Order: sequence, then C-alpha cells, then structure tokens
Amino acid sequence: MTGDGWAGFATRLERGEEIALIRSLTAGNRRVLDVGGGSGEMARAVAAQLGQCTAVEPHTQLVESIQDGVTTGVVNVFAGTAEALPFPDASFDAVYCAWVLPYVSDIRHAVTEMIRVCNPSEKESKIVLIAGGSGNELLALLNEVCVPVAEEPYDHHGYLLATAAQVLAEHGFTDFSLHRTEASIRFDGVGRTERVATAAAVLTEFWYGPHPKADEIRSALEPALARHFAVRPHGIGDQAAVLVARPGS
Ligand SMILES: C[S@@+](CC[C@H](N)C(=O)[O-])C[C@H]1O[C@@H](n2cnc3c(N)ncnc32)[C@H](O)[C@@H]1O
Repeated sequence: MTGDGWAGFATRLERGEEIALIRSLTAGNRRVLDVGGGSGEMARAVAAQLGQCTAVEPHTQLVESIQDGVTTGVVNVFAGTAEALPFPDASFDAVYCAWVLPYVSDIRHAVTEMIRVCNPSEKESKIVLIAGGSGNELLALLNEVCVPVAEEPYDHHGYLLATAAQVLAEHGFTDFSLHRTEASIRFDGVGRTERVATAAAVLTEFWYGPHPKADEIRSALEPALARHFAVRPHGIGDQAAVLVARPGS
C-alpha cells in the first residue's frame, strides 16, 4: 500500500460508526496512541474529544497530512512503525490500531510493542485493534478477484486478530470484547461504467500501487465491480471487527 493509495481510498470512505466507537472507547482515557494514523481522521476525532492524541505513521506525506485539518485539540505526530514505537514503556493508557495489521512485517512484534507502551495499571487501560470483519465486501473482492492474479497470499484479517489476541493474552490483556462496525467506500458517479472504472483504479492503487501486474488486476476487477454495482450501485462495504483488550483482573 502506498501513501497515495490510502489517501485516494480514504477520501471516499464513510466510517462514522467506526469513529464513534473509537471516541466512545477512549472517552475515559488521557493519553491515547494511534498506531499507523494514515491521514489522521481518527486521531483528529480523538483529539477533538480529549484535547490531544498522539499518532505514529511511517509514510512521510501522511505524517504531514495528519496535521492538516486539526481544528480542535492537538495531534502529536511521530514518524515511525508499529514494530518500533518511538516511546518509552507505559507512555499511554490506550493504544489503538485501525486497519494496519495487514501491513506490519511481524504482527507478534508489533502487538508486543503496543503492549509495551500501554500502562496496564491505569484504570481505563486498553488496546483496540480494528480489522476486516466477516462479510467485508472489499476483502471479498480482494481475495476472490485480485489475489489469484497477483499470486499473493489471501488477506485474512480473522487470522491477524486471532494472532494478536494470543499475544495480548500472553501479556495479561485477557479481558476481551469484540464489536462490529459498518463502513463503506462510496462512488457517486452517475454512470455505472464510470463508477466501475473509477473503483477499479482506486482499489488497484490502494491494494497494489506499483505492482507489476497492476494493469491486469484492474482489468480483472472491472467485471466483478460491474456485478457488484448492479446490486449495490454506489457503495462497497468495509465491515470491521473491533477487538478491545483490557488487562485481566
Ligand atoms: C489502511 S491505512 C489505515 C490508516 C488509519 N489507521 C485509519 O484507519 O484511517 C494503513 C496505514 O498503516 C500504515 N502502515 C503501514 N505499515 C505500517 C507499519 N509497519 N507500522 C505502522 N503503520 C504502518 C500506512 O502508512 C497507512 O497509513
């Protein structure tokens, strides 16, 4: 995934329910970290509520864009990755990480880092991980149409959350709850042919960027998107599973 790919995708994303859930989950926290902040929509929502939020993001152009549009509160942005969080131990009382686990090089290491920087003795201590949920329409397109062309492994978010839960439990975060949110990516164009072409380009750029088979992937997506838009004309679902882990008593 490239920074441009995420930016092109994020502007079409409607995720009010997801943002509302992150705001309510962090309402009682004081020091919150957003791991892989992207363009900063969530971090800004948290900062607007709590006065501040810290974000880590590896792509430099996204680090800059996180600051853009901050109107209420402060977002402190750091360049860095989930695998090497640039903070001392126990710096935060809540850490969340949305739609980033598929991109980390070592999920066990990344989750262990989130645990390291989260103080388990705070009253509202929690780690929140957001990934694709069951019935996710985008992941179905990715796995059924793109993966066979790209000859890459299936994108399996259930496996990512299950692995993360195992690591969290090993470190004492044994109080789990699982939630579901609905989001979708919107294509407002009037003509279906135009929407198919736009969606194929946006999704190819988001998932595969400069991949050598990007043109082939885009062509493979077009008939699948035409079938999808025949049923759901202007949206593709991005349903999430939200795992909340708190220290066990
Ligand atoms: C799909 S976007 C999600 C952005 C944001 N969390 C959100 O939900 O709006 C994935 C983000 O993960 C970031 N990313 C990729 N590899 C990462 C890593 N190893 N550690 C932290 N973030 C990473 C990307 O730069 C991108 O901003």
